[in-house]
Amino acid sequence: MSRLYNVDIIKPNTIFQGFYMCGIMGYTGSLDAAPILLEGLKKLEYRGYDSAGIAVMDKNVISMSKVSGRIAHLCEKTNDGKLFSGHAGIGHTRWATHGAPTDTNAHPHMSNDGKFAVVHNGIIENYLTLRDELKEKGYRFDSQTDTEVVVHLVEMYFEGDFRKAVMKAASRLQGSYALGVLCSDEPDKIIAVREYSPLLIGVGIGDNYFASDVTALVQYTRNVIYLDDGEFAEITKDKITVYDCTGKEINKEINHISWDIQAAEKGGYEHFMLKEIMEQPGAVKATITPRMKDNEIVWDESGLDKLDLKNVNKIVITACGSAYYAGCVGKYVIEELCRIPVQVELASELRYSNPIIDEHTLLIVLSQSGETADTIAAMKECMKRGAKSLSVVNVVGSTIAKIADYTVYTWAGPEIAVATTKGYTTQVSILYLLALWMGKKAGTLDETLYQKLYDNVKMIPKAIQNALDLNPKIPQLAKKYHSSKAMFFIGRNTDYAVSLEGALKMKEISYLHAEAYAAGELKHGTIALIDDHQPVIALCCNSSLQEKTISNIVEVKARGAEVLAVTYKDNSNIISVADDVIYIPQIESILSPVVEIIPLQLLAYYVAKENGCDIDKPKNLAKSVTVE
Ligand code: M6R
Repeated sequence: MSRLYNVDIIKPNTIFQGFYMCGIMGYTGSLDAAPILLEGLKKLEYRGYDSAGIAVMDKNVISMSKVSGRIAHLCEKTNDGKLFSGHAGIGHTRWATHGAPTDTNAHPHMSNDGKFAVVHNGIIENYLTLRDELKEKGYRFDSQTDTEVVVHLVEMYFEGDFRKAVMKAASRLQGSYALGVLCSDEPDKIIAVREYSPLLIGVGIGDNYFASDVTALVQYTRNVIYLDDGEFAEITKDKITVYDCTGKEINKEINHISWDIQAAEKGGYEHFMLKEIMEQPGAVKATITPRMKDNEIVWDESGLDKLDLKNVNKIVITACGSAYYAGCVGKYVIEELCRIPVQVELASELRYSNPIIDEHTLLIVLSQSGETADTIAAMKECMKRGAKSLSVVNVVGSTIAKIADYTVYTWAGPEIAVATTKGYTTQVSILYLLALWMGKKAGTLDETLYQKLYDNVKMIPKAIQNALDLNPKIPQLAKKYHSSKAMFFIGRNTDYAVSLEGALKMKEISYLHAEAYAAGELKHGTIALIDDHQPVIALCCNSSLQEKTISNIVEVKARGAEVLAVTYKDNSNIISVADDVIYIPQIESILSPVVEIIPLQLLAYYVAKENGCDIDKPKNLAKSVTVE
């Protein structure tokens, strides 16, 4: 009889907290604000950023300094903050999403009349519509960011009441945001707002703060108030007043932080990898939501809408490592929904393969970092032969993004652990959107199926959240399997593609020999390796091929294997054949890869932990492979 590791049905109202890309901080008190802000921002550096800035209010004037690059440069430029006087200010570390990492795109952003300055963490999904509206009303935009709409909205709505103007502006925003706003009419006041992006207020004595991340605050105060979604705080040096979204004053509890700084950096998790695994619902949501509007897939910022699909007779996907395995999922999905032939090529092979590629080839390049040397070389080779290139990249302004004809960003935020998790799931999510978009455009996807899949794609963040609820059970499985010498991952079709990534996760962080095999290939050689107690991880989420995979499970069981199956909640057939079963929530089969990888990431993580491995920095590996 199998042991069951059950994931319940999707929780309808799950809110994805704790995912963020930039870092924000604010101070109001009796000391000079700039040095305090700079010290706070330094504590946010660990999360990755590409530019930084501060704005300080002195009497009724707001002054600003912003740089692309490191905080050290900002310190140099401002003489460690001494060039500014003023006791209230806001600061920001930016991980570029909308617009390259330039001085102008760095935050804070200032209103045209110089009265307001804003820092923002999150994504404003309706910024294009708002920008058009504001431009029409005569507001000047200096940056390419989504954030700049916020400060112009505040200016537009200001009629003498700072808080009311911020509340009105916030009511127009869709997406996720934690905001800090200064107004030169009220020189010691900051207004902070939260919606789906973390924000906490630091409570001092004669000094108060806000930040997106507790690490920026612990050197100043350990007493904090956590804002909830829809809440606003008016912060002065002596008083903090919190309001709900209707403007009603509310009482908030003060919490004491006891984490040390290292635990705080990891959001209380033991490793960045675990933190990043947990961030996946938010990362995928941030990646897909702005591209899904009124039952259409939209590619506003990339210009991809202009791609002439009629001219494409073949798609080549190229990448390395996990990104390549994301491409393997993409092949199944695109071929199924768009009926266009797709080749997935390892970039290191493609670059030297004299590829058959011409101007009718669409090249899809996947890369979290955007800087992988082999991927860049393969891309250049294919573009030389006439291919149109579309890159799917996480780092704005990276080399691959710059070279590509079109770039669609995965908004996963900085990934610090060497083993990619949210990088992979956000890449797969973009491939789903592409397949839906191309299938509809090419007419290969009928309206009913399109709608069904569209609705299911929207559910992916919740399904991932639900799959994460396996967390308490996976460590037990890791204890059972961690001392094995080898582990095999099997599956068919999309399950096979996921087993490739599952095996890579296992080997790269736990150093356990893990291999993925197409389940139907076992009999052609590999089954000779199956012996008593050999762990086999069987992926069984592709509904049309489940029976076939079950037969393979029976075959390896007959040779003594210990089988851990991953399948859907309603799949009772597996219980009688596998030794252990992990369930994932029900989702359309073709979309299951992005969900079934979650327990495999967790399994790899906990096996590595059992084996005492350096999880975030596995031996011999670098986060970004910038040499051949
Ligand atoms: O930055 P990229 O996505 O181009 O990196 C490609 C691979 O080096 C990367 O996916 C690697 O395999 C992962 N670190 C594995 O977890």
